[in-house]
Amino acid sequence: MIRRSVIAGVGAYLPERVVPNAELAAKVDTSDDWIVERTGIKQRYMAAEGEFTSHLAIKAATHALSRANMDGKDLDLIVVATTTPDNTFPATAAKVQAALGRSGIIAFDVQAVCSGFVYALSVADNFIKAGQVESALVIGAETFTRLLDWNDRTTCVLFGDGAGAVVLQAGQGEGTAKDRGILSTHLHSDGRYYDMLMVDGGPSSTQTTGHVHMKGREVFRHAVVNLADTVREAIEHNQVTIDDVDWLVPHQANRRILDSTADKLNLDPAKVIITVDQHANTSAASIPLALNQGVTDGRIKPGQLVLMEAMGGGFTWGSALVRM
Ligand code: ACO
Repeated sequence: MIRRSVIAGVGAYLPERVVPNAELAAKVDTSDDWIVERTGIKQRYMAAEGEFTSHLAIKAATHALSRANMDGKDLDLIVVATTTPDNTFPATAAKVQAALGRSGIIAFDVQAVCSGFVYALSVADNFIKAGQVESALVIGAETFTRLLDWNDRTTCVLFGDGAGAVVLQAGQGEGTAKDRGILSTHLHSDGRYYDMLMVDGGPSSTQTTGHVHMKGREVFRHAVVNLADTVREAIEHNQVTIDDVDWLVPHQANRRILDSTADKLNLDPAKVIITVDQHANTSAASIPLALNQGVTDGRIKPGQLVLMEAMGGGFTWGSALVRM
């Protein structure tokens, strides 16, 4: 028997304010038609003034814990994936820990931009597999709209705010793809592409927060190749086929990236959970938000095989194959 990290609960939170494309078209030279055609995005959610990443993270965490019939005192580890922490330090995870009333446990942030959730899930899974903890809360939370230059139409239409979370509990399996829990994670990075997708500020370089800059076509080109590769890697590692996958829960960057990746993999498009039209790109929050959507509307059921994949700044990319 081997140790497995089993998903005991999934939760999410979106800010109240919905911003449709038309609202952006009133501010910058863009249109609902252009945004929908090139990205599939129809609207995004935006955090209120005074509403920080930690507030979204705590609400998503509380939701996931209640779904798992647990509370903060049952946790041994909190990992928050975010690119938009409340402050440069301490980690946003510290605020989540304090709010959940669980002092003394392990809590830290992981920074891998849009791949952050897959990275954080992998880190937590390894803590569980190593026997260092019995339970973990993994959160992807972002107030990404705070990094946008609202005069730059090439980026400001693409992103939104939100948070999603999963609770992991140690379980046991036979070591096959029939086990419940995280079957594998595969992570990658290639810093030669640092400048392709970046924020031009930071405490060490400019002492400002900065804004998002992106070479969109280059990102698109690399995303389709890297995502298909990491999906194949997960499939081969676990000796399953693409047809065995019940649901692809991808990072939600862009509808065209999702369609191209599914096409490259010969995956039935009906098996892809899509939220980019409603949420836009919420960076580290997008996978748990989409997972929560699929669980909440009853599409994703216990026992099904779910493949998560993401790519983001760095470049970073990776996948997680999970039996729910
Ligand atoms: N509204 C109207 N016109 C626009 C807008 C806009 N919001 N943005 C760009 N344009 C214009 C450009 O200025 C350009 O005009 P020009 O021909 O007069 O110079 C024209 O549209 C075409 O611009 P491109 O950048 O070539 O458009 P493209 O078809 O590549 O679409 C997009 C741009 C949507 C960003 C695309 O490159 C893409 O999807 N890239 C992937 C990037 C991505 O999703 N990043 C998210 C973060 S990374 C991640 O999460 C994986």
